[in-house]
Amino acid sequence: MAETPLDLIIDADPGIDDACALLAALASPRLRVRAVIASGGNVQAAQALLNVRRVLAVAQPEEVPLLGLGLDPPGKGLEATHIHGPDGLGEAPVAPLDIQALDACEAVRRALRQCRGEVALLALAPLTTVRFLLAEVPELRARLKQAVVMGGAVGVPGNVTPVAEFNFWRDPEAASALLHLRLPISLVPLNVTERWEVTAHTLRNHVRGRSRRAAFLRHVLGYAIQSHLVVVGRGALVHDAVALAGLLRPRLFRWRPLYLDVESRGTLTRGMVVADMRQPYGKPLKSDPQREPNARVAVGMQVRAVADCLWGLLR
Ligand code: BDR
Ligand code: CA
Repeated sequence: MAETPLDLIIDADPGIDDACALLAALASPRLRVRAVIASGGNVQAAQALLNVRRVLAVAQPEEVPLLGLGLDPPGKGLEATHIHGPDGLGEAPVAPLDIQALDACEAVRRALRQCRGEVALLALAPLTTVRFLLAEVPELRARLKQAVVMGGAVGVPGNVTPVAEFNFWRDPEAASALLHLRLPISLVPLNVTERWEVTAHTLRNHVRGRSRRAAFLRHVLGYAIQSHLVVVGRGALVHDAVALAGLLRPRLFRWRPLYLDVESRGTLTRGMVVADMRQPYGKPLKSDPQREPNARVAVGMQVRAVADCLWGLLR
């Protein structure tokens, strides 16, 4: 008997890797994407909304998800256009799908009315909007089966500062607040997302043909390959798509329950994830109810299998 698809709400700030995650999620028969919320991060929220509509025009899903406009994180001028291009999608020549957006809370409320039971949340942007939604739409929290979050760096350097990853760095207060809500959070940080690298060679091998989708993927991933070469000296990192794989195929990852917090005040360490990995004498610390694990964290992944899963959905 076919598995019932998992109802999913996505918060994203497209962004090239967000666009890939959206395309893959919309193509997966295991998921039913009920709403996409566009938030600020890589670009400002208004541009993110336009970009979600552009991605929907490429994906042409049978069932178009509800579209919501989320919030901008604090701090203007901190967008990641040096990686994703001035418009967030490498100036891909794609016109947006003509659909109306609701405000984020209304989109989530309507999406919840469309689903019967629990829902999953995939958070691919700074957590400003997700924090707001969880406070404003209590039903979301009550029905949340799991939240898969792309953010943070655990045991590896950051990608914005020596210690901070972009999504957590843009709004560390929101990231910390989310972790303290004691929700079923699966965190997919840089230590795993940076392990899948898309090169010009792999792109050529996996994306062929003349479809609108293939042309879009060649354009945006080609752009990201160039920008990553300039900025980090390697192929494109498609963090948010790896986070989607964490939701779809959790067994391809090694997870560790950990107590996490996010530094929000440090002058050198703002946005850094502080993971309590202390194991004196080789054993975890004696239980302290204040420091019980508040997330399961991806600490390993089968890179090849994750890549195969994602290419299978993308092309
Ligand atoms: C995260 O930051 C953004 O630039 C990407 O879209 C991803 O969500 C990686 O640090
Ligand atoms: Ca993102």
